[in-house]
Amino acid sequence: MTDPGQRLRSSLTDQSASTVEFDSPIAMEALRATRVLHAADQEPFPAPGRIRVITIANQKGGVGKTTSSVNLGVALALYGLRTLVVDLDPQGNTSTALGVDHSVGTPSVYDALVGDSSLAEVVHPTTATPLLSCVPATIDLAGAEIELVSVVAREYRLRRAIETHLQELPPEQRPHYVLIDCPPSLGLLTLNALVAGDEVLIPIQCEYYALEGLGQLLNNIDLVRRHLNPGIAVRTILLTMYDGRTRLADQVAEEVRNHFGSLVLDAVIPRNVRVSEAPGYGQSVVTYDPGSRGSTSYVEAARELAQRGVALPPLPSRPTPGAPVGAPVGAASPHRSAATVPVPPSPEETP
Ligand SMILES: Nc1ncnc2c1ncn2[C@@H]1O[C@H](COP(=O)(O)OP(=O)(O)OP(=O)(O)O)[C@@H](O)[C@H]1O
Ligand SMILES: [Mg+2]
Repeated sequence: MTDPGQRLRSSLTDQSASTVEFDSPIAMEALRATRVLHAADQEPFPAPGRIRVITIANQKGGVGKTTSSVNLGVALALYGLRTLVVDLDPQGNTSTALGVDHSVGTPSVYDALVGDSSLAEVVHPTTATPLLSCVPATIDLAGAEIELVSVVAREYRLRRAIETHLQELPPEQRPHYVLIDCPPSLGLLTLNALVAGDEVLIPIQCEYYALEGLGQLLNNIDLVRRHLNPGIAVRTILLTMYDGRTRLADQVAEEVRNHFGSLVLDAVIPRNVRVSEAPGYGQSVVTYDPGSRGSTSYVEAARELAQRGVALPPLPSRPTPGAPVGAPVGAASPHRSAATVPVPPSPEETP
C-alpha cells in the first residue's frame, strides 16, 4: 500500500499498526492524531458501573486541575461516554477551554449554588464534542464563598443540585461522568465539591514542593468523610507536567507512587507546550492538537480512568447511567422523577 492517506485510514481500525509502517516521528504523530480525531471509529471506552461524580481537587495552585478536568472530559466524551464538567472556579478557565461563554449574566453554577436555578437550567453544550456539556463559572462565583455562609445547608448545595439533575434526566441522557473542577483553596466551594463527589482525583505536578499541602487536603477529605459525605474517597492520582529531562520529575513520580500505590494512574501527563496553548484557542489539547504528546497522554489517562470505573458497584443513592451511548447530555426532562434524593441533613437542619 503506497498511498500514505490510505495507509493512515486503514490503520485507524488496526490498533496494531505500529512503528514498523509509521517509522518516522511525524508519521507516528499523524497516526496518533488521526486516531484521536476519528475516535468514533475506535473502540469506545467502557461505561462505568455507576455514574461517577469525580471531584478534581488540590488546593495548590497551577497543578493541572483545570487542564485535567477539560482534557479528561473531552477524551471521555470523544470515546463515547456522556460527560458533564462543572466549573467551580471563579476564574472560569474550564469554561474558556471548553468554548463556553462565561461572561457576567450567563446562567452559571453560581445560580444553582446561591440561587434557585436547577442544574439543567445552567448546563451548556460545548464546542468540543456533542457528548460533553459544561456548567460554566462566571466571576459572580467569587462572592459565593461569602454569600453561601448564610445559606441553609450550604455544604450540600452542589450535591443536591447534581443529585436532582441526575434523577430528573431520562436514563439515555444521564452522564456517565461528572467532573468538578475546584478552585485552588479549601473554602466553601471546594467543600461543596467534596460533599457532591463520590471520589476525588488529585492532580500532582511533578515538581519540587508537589507534595506540600497534600496532607492538609487529605485531612480535609477525611473530615468530610467523617462528618458530611461518608462515601467520598481518593480514588485517582494523576501525575501532571512531567518533564522527562529532569531527575526531579522522576523522583517526585516515584515518591508519589510509593505513597499512593495503585491509586496513581500509569499514564503520566508530560509537560507539553501544546497543552498550555490550547486554552488560548478556546480548546482542549485533545481537539487543538490531537497528535501531541499532551493530547495522547490525556486520552490514555481517560482510558485508564474508564477501565478502572467498570468494576465500581452501583450506589444506592444514584440512578444508574443510561445504557445507550450516543445521546448528548441533555437538559432535564419535563417529567420529574418521583424518586427522592437521599442527602444527609445539614447540621443546620438537625435539631
Ligand atoms: N501538561 C502541561 N504542559 C504544559 N503546560 C501545562 C500542562 N498542564 C497545565 N499546564 C499549564 O499550567 C498552568 C496551570 O494549569 P491549570 O490551570 O490546569 O492548573 P490549576 O491547578 O487548575 O490552576 P488553579 O489552581 O489556578 O486553578 C496553565 O497555564 C496550563 O495551561
Ligand atoms: Mg484551575
